[in-house]
Amino acid sequence: MEPLTAPRVLIGSEQISDRVAEIAREIVDEGYDRLILLGILKGSIHFLSDLARALPGDVRIALMRAESYGDAHQSSGEVRISLAPTLPLEGEDVLIVEDIIDSGLTLKRLQEELAVKRPKRLRTAALLRKPDAAIHQAEAHFVGFEIEPVYVVGYGLDSGERYRHLPYVGVLD
Ligand code: PRP
Repeated sequence: MEPLTAPRVLIGSEQISDRVAEIAREIVDEGYDRLILLGILKGSIHFLSDLARALPGDVRIALMRAESYGDAHQSSGEVRISLAPTLPLEGEDVLIVEDIIDSGLTLKRLQEELAVKRPKRLRTAALLRKPDAAIHQAEAHFVGFEIEPVYVVGYGLDSGERYRHLPYVGVLD
């Protein structure tokens, strides 16, 4: 088996942690009484964990699973939601936490599905956003970095389930 090559760094871990701290301040500035962070598995794992630790007050964590890419680098065009939110959301201030908005399809589907649960407020934080996100008009309220349309891995993002563990966002050359 060929050894894995390390992806080229696109956004380093310090840059990520600085930006996550800024997003946390933006969330605090907008205000909340009690907040549910709804992490979307699997890609959001690190962003969720870092953001949660930067937020004060009454914060709870819920999880959901959505996937459309499988092992491919292209979206299948179908979003499979295979895990319901692990906390009741009715009447709650909910912040969807996503690693990336690529075409925006996943976020659009999630927002539609979650609106039915009648949260008091439903917002989204995404670490990364690509230009195609406009296609499905999925709104994100907090965005870490606008990036070029390149395939990125690391900090939760995978290629065939590899690279999620990396502390930075990188590109496979
Ligand atoms: C990735 C990512 C987003 C979605 C973005 O999930 O975590 O949820 O794709 O793409 P879109 O905007 O084109 O819908 P993926 O299906 O790869 O599952 P994963 O998070 O388990 O890796």
